Amino acid sequence: MRESWAVVTGASSGIGKEYARVLAKTGIHCVLVARREEQLKGLAAELSRDHGINCVIIVKDLSDRSSAQEIYAECSRLGLHVDYLINNAGAGVFEYFNQADLGSIEKMLELNVMAPTILTKLFLQDMIPRGRGYVQFVASIASYLPTPLYAGYGASKAYDRHFATSLNYELRGTGVHCSVINPGFTATEFFEAAGQKNSWSQRLQMMSAKRCAEIAFWSLKKNKASVMAGPLNWFTAHVLCRITPVRLQAWLLQDDLVRSNKIERKR
Ligand SMILES: NC(=O)c1ccc[n+]([C@@H]2O[C@H](COP(=O)([O-])OP(=O)(O)OC[C@H]3O[C@@H](n4cnc5c(N)ncnc54)[C@H](OP(=O)(O)O)[C@@H]3O)[C@@H](O)[C@H]2O)c1
Repeated sequence: MRESWAVVTGASSGIGKEYARVLAKTGIHCVLVARREEQLKGLAAELSRDHGINCVIIVKDLSDRSSAQEIYAECSRLGLHVDYLINNAGAGVFEYFNQADLGSIEKMLELNVMAPTILTKLFLQDMIPRGRGYVQFVASIASYLPTPLYAGYGASKAYDRHFATSLNYELRGTGVHCSVINPGFTATEFFEAAGQKNSWSQRLQMMSAKRCAEIAFWSLKKNKASVMAGPLNWFTAHVLCRITPVRLQAWLLQDDLVRSNKIERKR
């Protein structure tokens, strides 16, 4: 039987790192992508030692428009049969939109929107003729809510969720599955990277990255179009968000972030 490979973006920490562990446990070889080489090397050594799989490390900044093409080219050059594409890498710009740096917003949109879109387009051209493949997007519960102070981030995650859900249907009958996982608050480096302190209510809702990755992989194999990570997040997205006015949601979310981070609006 030929060997199966997975490309996992954002594998140097958090959900992506745990996702790579879940894949490796099932005997899938991993292409680990992120900017921090040391973290990727450490994970590759661990996965090879503990699960006997092979790993390839690709150090890339996915906010560079050419990076997706370069990753695909490297996998093709190495002759890897990529059956799994896990579009996990992502980041948020935490600031009032009018005060945020435009360059940071552009980079975030490249990372959260363009990189997964281009990677999917490229890898599908091999998966569809083979009649086999799995593509997963990591969106967010933020894609269901107004996200003041994370306006561009929430919107980028709504793109990911809509895009993946549509592809799930478009791809039916091809043997290729596309799915989206929507994590809620998850204990990772995400908040530190965004420069945001967690409020007590966020800490109360935190899920582990391992649990999130396990739910994600399960939902991908089951060909679920869109899945919430856990019942609490499901309840928030599908019940609370429907019964409370959007203005109230926005106020509560912004107030919580402003209070816990003492963030100021400049005039
Ligand atoms: N944590 C949460 O509460 C939460 C909730 C909902 C959705 N999510 C989503 O979950 C996904 C994973 O995030 P996480 O929570 O696991 O956060 P994390 O621990 O900060 O991991 C983010 C990963 O993305 C990589 N990354 C960031 N910028 C990159 C860039 N420009 N180029 C290449 N790789 C980059 C990081 O690696 P390097 O820094 O080494 O490049 C890291 O491996 C993201 O898409 C995020 O939006 C997270």
